[in-house]
Amino acid sequence: MGKFYLRGKNVLITGASSGIGKELSQCFAQEGSNLFLGCHPSEKDILIKWANELQDRYAVKTVTFPIDLSEEKGPENLYQRVKRSVDRIDVLVNNAGILLYGNFHEISLDRQELLVRLNLVAYFKLMRLFLPQMVEAKVGRILNVVSAAAFQPTAHHATYGASKAFVQSLSEAVNQEIKGTGVKVFTLNPSYTNTPILKGGGFPDRIWWYKISGLSDPAAIARKGIKAMKREKEVYIPGRINWFVHSVLIRFVPRRLTNFISYWGLRARS
Ligand SMILES: NC(=O)c1ccc[n+]([C@@H]2O[C@H](COP(=O)([O-])OP(=O)(O)OC[C@H]3O[C@@H](n4cnc5c(N)ncnc54)[C@H](OP(=O)(O)O)[C@@H]3O)[C@@H](O)[C@H]2O)c1
Repeated sequence: MGKFYLRGKNVLITGASSGIGKELSQCFAQEGSNLFLGCHPSEKDILIKWANELQDRYAVKTVTFPIDLSEEKGPENLYQRVKRSVDRIDVLVNNAGILLYGNFHEISLDRQELLVRLNLVAYFKLMRLFLPQMVEAKVGRILNVVSAAAFQPTAHHATYGASKAFVQSLSEAVNQEIKGTGVKVFTLNPSYTNTPILKGGGFPDRIWWYKISGLSDPAAIARKGIKAMKREKEVYIPGRINWFVHSVLIRFVPRRLTNFISYWGLRARS
C-alpha cells in the first residue's frame, strides 16, 4: 500500500467549532486537505466564520454541516448531507463529545443518554456509514478522538469513561479486521485538555489528577495527533507521563486499585 498523503484529501471533522476539533481542522488545512466541518446547530455562525478563515488562509475548500449528532438520526443526516456535497470522504475524524461530572445515580438519565448518543452512538454510526466506501476504494483513514479515560474506570464521570472505552475497543477491533485493505482506524487519547468541555457539565475548576497529568493545550494535542496518524501510530496517548500511566503502569496495577486511585484522583480540588 502506498503512503497516505493528506494534501487534496476530503476530511470530515465533527465538533469542529471549538477545542481539539477546531485545532485539528487548522492542522488538516495546513496539510492542504479539503474540510467538511460539523458542529452543533447553536454554533453554526461561529463555525462558518472559522471555515471562511481557514479557506482564506490556506486556500482549501470548506463546507459546514450544523447538525445535532445526539438526535436519533443525526449521524445518518450528516452522512446524507455530506454525500450530497462530495463524492467521497477520505478521512473521518470523530471528535464531537460532551462530559458530565458527578455521581452516576444523581446525573439525570436524559443528560447521560444524550452523552451516550453523542460520544458513543454517533462515533459508531459514522464509522459504520463511512467505512464501506473507504474499504471498497482501498484507501482511507478514521481518526477517533477518544481519551485517556478509555483505559480505566473513571469515577465521577463514569458514563463518559464508559463511552470512551466502547469507542476504544471498537476502533482497535475494526482496525484489526480491515488490516491489509489500505484503510486504518486510529485513536487519539489525550488526558485533560484545556477546552470548553471542562468548563461545563458540572466539571470542577480543578481535580487532583491534574497534579499528575497537567492540563494540555488543544493546539499541541491536535498537532501531535496528526503527526502520530501520519506515522501510523494506531493508539496515541500524548505526553510521556500520560503514556506511561495509561499504557504501561496500568498493566501492572490491579484493576481494583486503578479504579480506587482514579476515584481519588478525579475528585475536585479547591
Ligand atoms: N478536553 C479534554 O480534557 C479531553 C480529553 C480527552 C478527550 N477529549 C475528547 O475530545 C473531543 C473534543 O472535545 P473538546 O475537549 O475539544 O471539547 P469542546 O471544545 O467542547 O468540543 C466539543 C465539540 O463537540 C460539539 N458538540 C457538542 N454537542 C454536540 C452535538 N449534540 N452535536 C454535534 N456537535 C456537538 C461541540 O459543539 P458546541 O460547542 O456547539 O457544543 C464542540 O464543537 C471529545 O470527544 C472529548 O471527549 C477531550
